[in-house]
Amino acid sequence: DLPTRVRIHEVGARDGLQNEKATVPTEVKAEFIRRLADAGLTTIEATSFVHPKWVPQLADAEQLFPQVADLPVALPVLVPNERGLDRALALGASRVAVFASATESFAKANLNRTVDEALAMFEPVVTRAKADDVHVRGYLSMCFGDPWEGPVPIPQVVRVCRALTDMGCDELSLGDTIGVATPGHVVALLAALDEAGIPPSALGVHFHDTYGQALANTLAALQQGVTTVDASAGGLGGCPYAKSATGNLATEDLVWMLRGLGIDTGIDLGRLVATSTWMAARLGRPSPSRTVRALSHE
Ligand code: HMG
Ligand code: MG
Repeated sequence: DLPTRVRIHEVGARDGLQNEKATVPTEVKAEFIRRLADAGLTTIEATSFVHPKWVPQLADAEQLFPQVADLPVALPVLVPNERGLDRALALGASRVAVFASATESFAKANLNRTVDEALAMFEPVVTRAKADDVHVRGYLSMCFGDPWEGPVPIPQVVRVCRALTDMGCDELSLGDTIGVATPGHVVALLAALDEAGIPPSALGVHFHDTYGQALANTLAALQQGVTTVDASAGGLGGCPYAKSATGNLATEDLVWMLRGLGIDTGIDLGRLVATSTWMAARLGRPSPSRTVRALSHE
């Protein structure tokens, strides 16, 4: 059984751009976000309030956020700690995301913490955000495989998901940071989480497309009852702290599949493709999305 409606959580402006070497001007980022909203995306992750030395591309969060804050869409932002939360709240952010890791190697590389130290760092962030009526997403990275540790055992993923849920996160997003998941693994993880009291309806899926499995994995998740899917316009993306991470599932590829399945997204595919083509020109290379390439050959 497939859902009748899917919510797309657009991550192009954050996950998509965070790995770009050349600094993208703030005005271009703002224009990108405006165009995404115009194409019908309703949840657009805008930026990260992380340490600027860790992700230099997003060091302009203070300048960018006010330029897009009045758009009639949800604009979640990443915050790793209370310092990040302070910065986001000062600008009026109403949705934040903390980002945990299922593996020790990535927790260290991405957050300079152990898995449990990172969870301890998030606890006051989530508590304060909830007290302020701020919506909290809990990302969990390396849910399937890790570049240093290999395949990640399901119980290890379930434990951290449970901790994020118990902490008060409103939704979780299961990250396949390096794109190694396959549909059977997705079904097995969703079943284990359901058994641990975290149903598919409380989960989003976040697939990177390194091995070309992102769309197949998404379909498997939809069949299990997941209705929130993360995607990046044009398939931009990667994580600077995870070697071999490539772009996310392209939003266009997702919309094409959902449209064919008769699932409503409210997105204007033509406008979205035009946006990604425009962005690709700014970044100086073609979009890796098959759908963008197919539809932009006029
Ligand atoms: P640290 O070096 O351990 O920081 O980094 P610290 O807590 O020791 O603080 C050191 C200094 O940094 C202090 O300044 C703090 O104030 C400052 P000092 O007192 O020395 O002058 N500082 C900050 N400044 C601005 N904003 C902040 C902030 N925090 C501390 N928020 C830290 C720890 C978490 C800060 C660092 O590791 C970090 O910023 N990491 C972010 C990494 C990141 O953004 N990665 C990409 C996002 S995750 C991802 O892409 C995966 C995802 O897509 C899902 C998937 O695909 O799996 C979500
Ligand atoms: Mg990601």
